[in-house]
Amino acid sequence: MPDILPTILIFDSGIGGLSIADEIRTRIQLCRLFYVADNAIFPYGIQEESVLINRLLELLPYLEQYARPDLIVIACNTASTVVLEPLRLQTRTPIIGVVPAIKPAAQHSVNHHIGLLATPGTVKRQYVQNLIDSFASHCQVTKVGSAELVHEAENKLRSLPVDHDVIARALAPFNPPNAAPDIIVLGCTHFPFLREEIQQHLPQGTRLIDSGEAIARRAVSLLQSIAPSPTRLNANEFLFTADTPSARKMAETLHLHGFAQVHLVANGITDFTQKHSAT
Ligand code: DGL
Repeated sequence: MPDILPTILIFDSGIGGLSIADEIRTRIQLCRLFYVADNAIFPYGIQEESVLINRLLELLPYLEQYARPDLIVIACNTASTVVLEPLRLQTRTPIIGVVPAIKPAAQHSVNHHIGLLATPGTVKRQYVQNLIDSFASHCQVTKVGSAELVHEAENKLRSLPVDHDVIARALAPFNPPNAAPDIIVLGCTHFPFLREEIQQHLPQGTRLIDSGEAIARRAVSLLQSIAPSPTRLNANEFLFTADTPSARKMAETLHLHGFAQVHLVANGITDFTQKHSAT
């Protein structure tokens, strides 16, 4: 008999969404996670908005057909800030999006100067500007978009060396001679993995905040109101949308994050779903 456990689909461009998956796993032990890293078009932060919208609208139905999730978490600020609305029109499965924690940062900033460290795509979004207008209009907001830091985070997760010069260069706008932000929002799910390195290149006492814990709490509360359908996954599964050498190398790390099974899609997601979907 299949287990009656909720299945959660977690989606990101790469392995950054593991920062969200880890938070969810610590709060919800009895669930199955199906993590999808869309490494075929990684990184998302430099893609056109229309590319991301079309990509997610196309992929999600196949991923849903495969895993039959009770809940979807778009563990990517770059995607969430542009695709949540069209995605929600397309599926009845509840979706949680991850967006920069501008509101708590603005509430807690003492000097009313906050920073946003995100991808180049996220810092340009109207969605983010709307968050700032609604919750941080009393604050100065310094936005920094960096695709390089996303690569550094992926390197770290692959146990490759992190380049501190790259980090220092990216963070330079947060180190003005006076009045630096006292709180910086990590608005990319990759960046919590670089927390210590980022902290080293900021003025002492700068606080870093991310959305991981809030997302996990939201997942707990949503799942309380959903009657889960029997999961079709025997274990937590991880899927890369492209079979690349670096994806292969990640398998061991993924086991440490609780994923027993790793799929590498070689011939496109349609082919994968046809081969693997249970009836
Ligand atoms: N992890 C993603 C985010 O939260 C995007 C990284 C990328 O692919 O650029 O924005």
